[in-house]
Amino acid sequence: MKKILLQLDVDPQPCSFDAITAIDAGADTILRHGNVSVDNVVPLVHGAMFTRGANHLSSTGIFLGGKDISKVEDVASRISETFFDSIRVSVFLDPAGANTTAVAAVIAAKRHISFATSEGMKNCQALVLGGTGPVGQRVSRLLASEGVHVHLVSRSLKRASTCCQIIQKKIPNAHLEAISEKTIGAVIGSADLIISAGKSGIKMLTATQLSQAISNRVCIDLNAVPPAGIDGVHTTDDARRDGTKYIYGAFGVGVTKMKIHRAAIQQLFQTNDQWLDAEELLMLSERFMLSERSSFPVNKPINQ
Ligand SMILES: NC(=O)c1ccc[n+]([C@@H]2O[C@H](COP(=O)([O-])OP(=O)(O)OC[C@H]3O[C@@H](n4cnc5c(N)ncnc54)[C@H](OP(=O)(O)O)[C@@H]3O)[C@@H](O)[C@H]2O)c1
Repeated sequence: MKKILLQLDVDPQPCSFDAITAIDAGADTILRHGNVSVDNVVPLVHGAMFTRGANHLSSTGIFLGGKDISKVEDVASRISETFFDSIRVSVFLDPAGANTTAVAAVIAAKRHISFATSEGMKNCQALVLGGTGPVGQRVSRLLASEGVHVHLVSRSLKRASTCCQIIQKKIPNAHLEAISEKTIGAVIGSADLIISAGKSGIKMLTATQLSQAISNRVCIDLNAVPPAGIDGVHTTDDARRDGTKYIYGAFGVGVTKMKIHRAAIQQLFQTNDQWLDAEELLMLSERFMLSERSSFPVNKPINQ
C-alpha cells in the first residue's frame, strides 16, 4: 500500500517545507489542502478514514499545520471528534514548525540542565522571549510540563498573560509568569535557561542584558535571520561553550528539528491510532535520542 499523507493547513497555501520534508521522510503521495477550517475538515478526514479499508488505515496519515496556532488547535479537536472506535488514522501536528522546533530546543536544554524537580531543590527557571508566538508558546508549554518555572515574555503583558492562561488550562500545576519585555531586567538574573523565539530578524536581547544573566547555563536563539535574536549567538552554534554556559543557534537546533520532523512522518505510518502533538513528539524524540543508533520509527505507538 502506498503511504498517503493528507497535508492539511489552515493557511491559504499548504506549506511547501512540510510537503518536501514529508517526501524526504518517505511519504509516497501527498494530498495538499489549504484554508482548512473546522467547517470543511470533516469530509477531508472522512476521505482518509473510509477509502482504503480498516486493515490499511495505517497507510494513510494526517499532517496538520499553519501559522495560527489556535485555529490549528480547533481543527485538531474537530479531527479527533470525527474519528470513532478504531476507524481513525494517525495525526501529526506541527503548526508553523512550532512543535518540532520547540521539542528540539527543549532537548538541547536538557542535555545540560536537569529539569527533574526534587524536594528542597529550586525549580529550573526559564526565560522565553517571543513567548506569544507559535514556537514560544510550545516551548513554554513543554518546559512547564517538565516542571520548569517559565517566565513568558511579550511586548504586551496582556498577550503574555493570555498565553500563560492557555498553558495553565492544559497543565494546571504549571509555574508560569507573564513578563513584559520592559521588566526582563527583574528576572534575567535568575534564568538558568534563556530561549529566544522572537520574530525572525528581530533582536530580542542585547549583550548588556545578557551580561546580567548570571545564572544562565543554556542560551538558545531560534532566529536564523540577521541580526541575531540574542546578541553574540551565531546561527551555527551547537553547544558552544562560553564560560559556564552552552550556546545554541538556529541551525544548531535545526538539525535536531529536521530529524524529529522526518521521524514523526515515518512514525505516522506505523499504526493508525497515534496523535503526535508537542508532548508526544518530545517523548518520541527522547526515546530516539536515548538509542541514537536504533532505527526510527520506534515499535511502540504514541497514542492520543
Ligand atoms: N531553528 C529552527 O529550526 C526554526 C524553526 C521554526 C521557526 N524558527 C524561528 O523561531 C522563531 C519563532 O517563530 P514564530 O513563528 O513563533 O515567530 P513569530 O510568531 O513571527 O514571532 C514570535 C513573537 O515575536 C514577537 N515580536 C514580533 N515582532 C516583534 C518586534 N518587532 N519586536 C519584538 N518582538 C516582536 C511577537 O510577540 P509579542 O507581539 O507578543 O511581543 C511574536 O509573538 C523565529 O525566529 C523563527 O524564524 C526556527
